[in-house]
Parts: sequence; structure tokens; C-alpha cells
Amino acid sequence: MSGSEVNSKARTVTLHMVSSLDGFIAKKDNTVSWLDSPGDIYERGVSISAEEAAAFVKTIDCYVLGSRTYEHALELGWPYGDTPTVVVTSRELSPVKKSVQFYSGDLKTLVDVNLAPRYRNIWLVGGAMLCNRFLELGLVDKIKLMIAPVVLGEGLRLFGSLPEQRWSLRNVVSYKNGFVELSYSAVTA
Ligand SMILES: NC(=O)c1ccc[n+]([C@@H]2O[C@H](COP(=O)([O-])OP(=O)(O)OC[C@H]3O[C@@H](n4cnc5c(N)ncnc54)[C@H](OP(=O)(O)O)[C@@H]3O)[C@@H](O)[C@H]2O)c1
Repeated sequence: MSGSEVNSKARTVTLHMVSSLDGFIAKKDNTVSWLDSPGDIYERGVSISAEEAAAFVKTIDCYVLGSRTYEHALELGWPYGDTPTVVVTSRELSPVKKSVQFYSGDLKTLVDVNLAPRYRNIWLVGGAMLCNRFLELGLVDKIKLMIAPVVLGEGLRLFGSLPEQRWSLRNVVSYKNGFVELSYSAVTA
């Protein structure tokens, strides 16, 4: 096995998104109140403390996002701290922080050549367009899908047109607030 193969195997790309019950990740008007917690409504669910959430976020080595998600994140308030973040875009955008870099070009090269040698735990956090491209190219190792207890009726679809892909369920976590997190890993031939 060559050095670059070792590196590309060592990395894990996790696609993380929050979806409505009917498979939308954003409303047409881009408002996000549908993501608000309805409070503790499911007794058998778990809850995580702010400290636990912060400790978990620290395990993420790098975020990857599409430019529209980047622009929306800037409007809402930057959620990625100082963790290295790569924004995929063909435009000249200005970085909000030193930790932000822009990338344009082949996505396999981005993952295998630019990211894998430096980062192990890579999180792809949207949006729909970029996640679709990653899935098409077979660049996603794990999917973590949070299902929000709401039907939106319309909006931006979680996944667009893709060839059939099988995923293996690894974990299910139900939260007290009624959100459910499904974790899958890629089925390798
Ligand atoms: N619910 C959730 O978990 C969640 C998560 C993330 C985002 N969102 C929402 O999703 C929406 C944004 O999603 P989106 O699907 O519209 O857009 P997106 O995937 O965030 O960004 C699309 C943009 O990324 C760039 N891009 C994608 N693939 C590329 C490639 N192969 N090469 C070069 N550039 C590429 C292009 O940027 P340029 O046009 O600049 O070239 C493209 O216009 C927002 O409303 C956001 O809030 C929701």
C-alpha cells in the first residue's frame, strides 16, 4: 500500500445534516426556527450537557461546507469556532477567520490530497448540493442524520437524484427533545 493510500484510508468523512421528517434541510425562506428544541417531551430519550457537546465537537479535526452554507452560517453566527474549515466555491469570497480556507476544483483531490494527510475526523456539514456531490463520488464514509420532529412540506431536499447506495445502520440515539440521530457507515463491497 502506498503512503497516499494509507492516508486516504486513515481519514473518515462524516456527512452530518439535520432533516425534517419529510426530508428537507432548509425552508424556502431560510429561517431556522424549525430547528428549535420543543423542550423535554420524550422521557426515554437522552440529553447531553453543554460540556459533553463541547468535548464532542473538539474531536472534529476539520469542517467542509458549500459556499451557500458558509454564507448562511455567517448570517446566523459562526458555529465552527477555530476548527479548520474548508469552503468549496468557485467564487472569490473573503474568509471570516484565519481558520477558513476556500477550495475550488476536484473534490476527490480535496479529500485525498489536501485533507487526508492532515486531518482524520473530517465533517461534511452541508449543504445539499455539496453533500450530493460527495455521495456521488463515494467520498462519504459515515452519515449522521439528525431527524427533527417537524414536517416542513416544502424546502430544500436532503438528497437529490443519486444512484442507489446501501448504508449500514450503526447507532440510533433518541433525545429528550424528540430529535433522533441515525448513524450509518458505508457498505464496502
Ligand atoms: N439542515 C442542515 O443540517 C443544513 C446543513 C447545511 C446547510 N443547510 C442549509 O442548506 C442551504 C445551502 O445548501 P445548498 O445545497 O443550497 O448549497 P451548498 O451545498 O451549501 O453550497 C453550494 C455551493 O457550493 C459550491 N460547490 C458545490 N459543489 C462544488 C464543486 N464540486 N466545485 C466547486 N464548488 C462547489 C458552489 O459554490 P459557488 O456558487 O460559490 O461556486 C455551490 O453553489 C442553506 O439554506 C443552509 O442553511 C442545512
